[in-house]
Amino acid sequence: MSLGCPSGRRALLHLLLAVAVSFFGLALSMDKTREQLVTEEKMMRLGGQLVLQKQEETANEHLMMLKKAEMLQAMKSEVFPPSMHFFQAKHLMEKSRVFDIIKKMPKGAALHLHDFGILSMDWLVKNVTYRPHCHFCITPKGTLQFRFAHPTPPSPEPEKCSKWILLENHRKHVRNVTEFDSSLLEAFTLTTENPEVVYANQAMVWSKFETIFFTISGLVRYAPVFRDYIFQGLEEFYNDNVLYLELRAMLYPVYELNGETHDREWSLRTYKEVAQTFVRTHPEFIGIKIIYSDHRSKDVSLIKESVQAAMRLRSQFPTMVAGFDLVGREDAGHSLWHHREALMIPATLGVKLPYFFHAGETDWQGTSIDKNLLDAMVLNSTRIGHGFALSKHPAVRASSQEKHIPIEVCPISNQVLKLVSDLRDHPAAALMATGHPMVISSDDPAIFGAKGLSHDFYEAFMGIGGMMADLRTLKQLAMNSIKYSALSDAEKEAFMKTWEKRWDAFIANLAQGQK
Ligand SMILES: *[C@@H]1O[C@H](CO)[C@@H](O)[C@H](O)[C@H]1NC(C)=O
Ligand SMILES: *[C@@H]1O[C@H](CO)[C@@H](O)[C@H](O)[C@H]1NC(C)=O
Ligand SMILES: *[C@@H]1O[C@H](CO)[C@@H](O)[C@H](O)[C@H]1NC(C)=O
Ligand SMILES: [Zn+2]
Repeated sequence: MSLGCPSGRRALLHLLLAVAVSFFGLALSMDKTREQLVTEEKMMRLGGQLVLQKQEETANEHLMMLKKAEMLQAMKSEVFPPSMHFFQAKHLMEKSRVFDIIKKMPKGAALHLHDFGILSMDWLVKNVTYRPHCHFCITPKGTLQFRFAHPTPPSPEPEKCSKWILLENHRKHVRNVTEFDSSLLEAFTLTTENPEVVYANQAMVWSKFETIFFTISGLVRYAPVFRDYIFQGLEEFYNDNVLYLELRAMLYPVYELNGETHDREWSLRTYKEVAQTFVRTHPEFIGIKIIYSDHRSKDVSLIKESVQAAMRLRSQFPTMVAGFDLVGREDAGHSLWHHREALMIPATLGVKLPYFFHAGETDWQGTSIDKNLLDAMVLNSTRIGHGFALSKHPAVRASSQEKHIPIEVCPISNQVLKLVSDLRDHPAAALMATGHPMVISSDDPAIFGAKGLSHDFYEAFMGIGGMMADLRTLKQLAMNSIKYSALSDAEKEAFMKTWEKRWDAFIANLAQGQK
């Protein structure tokens, strides 16, 4: 075809026009489809259904401006705290302005915590080990063990531990007390500069993790320390804007200076009394509940006894004891299925004992271990601790979403215990994108070197949530922690009112930051 001829030119013009029109038409419909998908996903996300008030919108803009700046900077430098090991990321995180905001945010409740992992270990070193009559011994494996006693108790059997050494005397003889105290702190936490080298695999990190509980147990179970520990622990969470805690507690015997020991009832009474004292001095604090827990590695016969004890304790302390759980490393302990005979006792007797099972805290897909998720559902678990493997179980996932059974996501715990290294890859990312019921908690913050909930919230907001997570996400997570708590409906309503008041003040402040 010759372009010189007018009819040919007209034809070309027509052709070009046709292409342009269909391009714009296509582009328009593409834009529309894209827009639709974006909106659809936005609505599906955790918090996507929330409608923000005017001031919340302003606060959100400010928050997201800071978040975007941090993310863009991280994409350029490839230094992004949630993708790094927490031990190396912590100091970077604490410089973040988003982290500052998260610290100030009223976060509601902490629903997944363990009795002796809630208070910074600094306090055990600086306060508890400086109290009089504190002894220690060293096991053949080199593990520290502590005991308050007066006079000095007889030596343990040599195959169990060395002679008891009075810490006060020992400190007089160490070359450098500062160094000695840091060595204690090192024995009380997992923190290290080179976690990848020090903890080559999950077994190694779990071994040190369980050793820490063994080591600090003699300090925390001393009656005067036990009371102070609870009080100080609540203070640490209160200062992090958390108003209510549910603690998984083993209720091991608490002892006095003369060796006398107290039973589980005594411990529960003490939890209750200390929480009441705390509420009196911290007016908006809601309180605590205990989820009585035993170690999953025990024999079924022992778990049967614990389940019976749990039923008894719950009837004796109906407002304190929320229910029962099995704790300890799932990969190494017995499955829920293994313990089914014990766990069916309440249903068989027609007694209500709510369960709060750890389940799916594993990387081993399709094994008896991650089937714990199925059994947690079958046993009517009220919530699921971790649920790390949930995204691999579509039926359990659908059922838990339908029945409003939330997972308790503890990002830093999962990373430190080596289930996932980069928290952008945490399986909760997919669940958050579909609005699966969840709460964020910190498991054993003291052992990981974290405090309260803020570090875990930062990981969830920046790493797991990605760029689309905004103020709605944070608000929904805080509200979920109240909604999914073991409080009564009336208590939840009162808690929600208190939280809303604090939320409004937080929003007013954050919106101010915009100007
Ligand atoms: C430890 O803290 C308690 C308050 O919780 C305080 O009364 C006590 O004096 C402190 N002891 C030491 C040795 O610092
Ligand atoms: C003790 O050790 C610390 C930390 O290593 C050091 O800063 C301090 O100077 C030492 N003190 C003495 C008296 O040697
Ligand atoms: C779980 O709930 C179902 C339905 O309410 C009930 O039939 C079943 O007995 C419960 N199982 C346990 C172990 O509580
Ligand atoms: Zn846990």
